Amino acid sequence: MKPIISPSMLSADFGHLAKDIEMINRSEADWLHVDIMDGVFVPNISFGFPVLKYVARLSEKPLDVHLMIVQPEKFIPEVKALGAHIMNVHYEACPHLHRVIQQIREAGMKPAVTINPATPVALLKDIIRDVYMVLVMSVNPGFGGQKFIEHSVEKVRELKDLIESSGSQALIEVDGGVNVATGARLVEAGADVLVAGSAVFAAENPEEAIRALRNL
Ligand code: DX5
Ligand code: ZN
Repeated sequence: MKPIISPSMLSADFGHLAKDIEMINRSEADWLHVDIMDGVFVPNISFGFPVLKYVARLSEKPLDVHLMIVQPEKFIPEVKALGAHIMNVHYEACPHLHRVIQQIREAGMKPAVTINPATPVALLKDIIRDVYMVLVMSVNPGFGGQKFIEHSVEKVRELKDLIESSGSQALIEVDGGVNVATGARLVEAGADVLVAGSAVFAAENPEEAIRALRNL
């Protein structure tokens, strides 16, 4: 099975966003990954809903929205208004994760839970049957272009075991330092979806880079 590819807009050229989104539209990418940061949950701020409104209008690919913010449930209506396909919230930002997952589903979106590098897979045991997807962070969230954390491959394997043993249908997405080399190992370990920022946008031929990831 070919992996689903979700290029991360964080590494796009913000001076020419429309051009980069048109490239994604033409490419073999499956989704468009958008990273929302608040400067509180992560030490950076990216872009917000006024910008994303235009991105959503231009994008022909379903939006895979990754919220790196505290209290993400406050923004369910805004994410919904973008027409988002998936809403990813961080495990570490949601003390009432079960409720937030239900709220996302009730709003008509696919709920996904994201875990930071220091959060163990085992903590997902009681939520794994309720989520559409688990996003494994393979860098500490906040910035593009960081070095892949090796232990993530093992985490994907462990998560795959948890999903299979619990009868869950959840997809496994990985985000951070993904390129053809790390991507191949992640897919082998059980990853279904690869997010790639710099590996796509810093490539000489981004469409070709997307195709290479998709053909892993
Ligand atoms: C980081 C973001 C990622 C980022 C990945 O916090 O969640 O989506 O864009 O960038 P690369 O692929 O360059 O590591
Ligand atoms: Zn992301």
